[in-house]
Amino acid sequence: MTPRFPDTFLWGGAIAANQVEGAWQEDGKGISTSDLQPQGIFGQRVERKPGDFNIKDMAIDFYHRYPEDIRLFAEMGFTVLRTSIAWTRIFPQGDETLPCEAGLAFYDRLFDEMKKYNIMPMVTLSHYEMPYGLVKNYGGWGSRKTIGFFEHYARTVLERYKDKVKYWLTFNEINMSLHAPFTGVGLPENSNKQTIYQAIHHQLVAGARATKACHQIVPDGKIGNMLLGGLLYPLSCKPADMIETLQKNREWLFFGDVQVRGYYPAYMQRFFSENGIELAIEEQDKHDLRAPIDFISFSYYMTGCVTADKDQDVKRGNILDMVPNPYLPSSEWGWQIDPQGLRLLMNELYDRYQKPLFIVENGLGARDRVEADGSINDDYRIAYLNDHLVQVGEAIADGVEVLGYTSWGPIDLVSASRAEFSKRYGFIYVDRNDEGQGTLARTRKKSFFWYQDVIKSQGASLK
Ligand code: BG6
Repeated sequence: MTPRFPDTFLWGGAIAANQVEGAWQEDGKGISTSDLQPQGIFGQRVERKPGDFNIKDMAIDFYHRYPEDIRLFAEMGFTVLRTSIAWTRIFPQGDETLPCEAGLAFYDRLFDEMKKYNIMPMVTLSHYEMPYGLVKNYGGWGSRKTIGFFEHYARTVLERYKDKVKYWLTFNEINMSLHAPFTGVGLPENSNKQTIYQAIHHQLVAGARATKACHQIVPDGKIGNMLLGGLLYPLSCKPADMIETLQKNREWLFFGDVQVRGYYPAYMQRFFSENGIELAIEEQDKHDLRAPIDFISFSYYMTGCVTADKDQDVKRGNILDMVPNPYLPSSEWGWQIDPQGLRLLMNELYDRYQKPLFIVENGLGARDRVEADGSINDDYRIAYLNDHLVQVGEAIADGVEVLGYTSWGPIDLVSASRAEFSKRYGFIYVDRNDEGQGTLARTRKKSFFWYQDVIKSQGASLK
């Protein structure tokens, strides 16, 4: 069946400040946790010596080259571009009262450039980076004070861009803090569950306060959460595997449950007591949490399996540990490819929350080869995206309300998990390698023209 996408459907791509901008010390920007992770989101370094290499320092130099990139996105027909604001450009240490004007001015220029082409900005308030000053001086999200610093930052940018930005997201993949605590909540990697869940509680309260602020400051805007859509299947139909799967899926759905319902789901009481977790929740927090988001946004790359059998091999996907599904192929990075899983996930989220969905990340990380004539024939990427978009169409036909789709990394960027360059997602090739060599020149890949057709035909060209 040819997928039918509504006329209002937004088409575009998604990037994140720390993976594209570079200019890590320009215009007063402070040091972020990402600046201290040259190995990617699973590494942490608390000190940085002069001369240390981090490929994100320059990334793809989007900070200076954004006009060219936006023009290329416009050429593909984008109606939306998801990006993030680097918190450290606005509040370099995190706890200042006054924002950094040069940082604010950069995003003004960026959003104005998008407006020229009628590309709607969708802004993630925090995407895998926070001011390192807050980590060093307060213990990151472990401190209740960070809620106030974040709210101040959120209110500052909401006020500043209220006429330019109508789509907002709170924390990128908020559920990943369980697996990469330094990246997610600014805590040491070996933190215990008690500490991590307390930090997560602070982040949930902060996200709810930002949601309330958005509703006050941008009344004609919409704000969503952002989940790593980590749908898990039981490895077998053994009841014990089913129960294990229910529990594992709740580990990430818990975040959405709080963000939509405004309170902790009953099933977490048992989890907390069995794991010796006692959260400090103030009366005001309970009140603050009651700020439901307008839509659910999520990333989708893969699914995995769960079993109650403790001897099974577990593999790490992008963030979650999963048992491989014997029926699915994998990418070179071992991520299992499951287009139908996207339809399943969308139905699951819509049934559970009855809120519109926005797919804000999806794509294939792959090595690309530049041919002698300069062309890049990324048919594998086209196949991956085609098959996933067909399933989005199926979900829409199932009755799921979907606002839009932004593929991950429409232009090659630094990959998050290992800070590599050779793992590429783009429709636009960037000449740079893992060692940081290259001209940074941009080239249209075959998928560029393919996506242009998809957007122009409103999905009718999908096969
Ligand atoms: C998501 C993140 O987890 O996956 C992105 O929100 C990230 O920041 C993307 O880049 C793909 O992961 P990776 O490790 O291939 O870059």
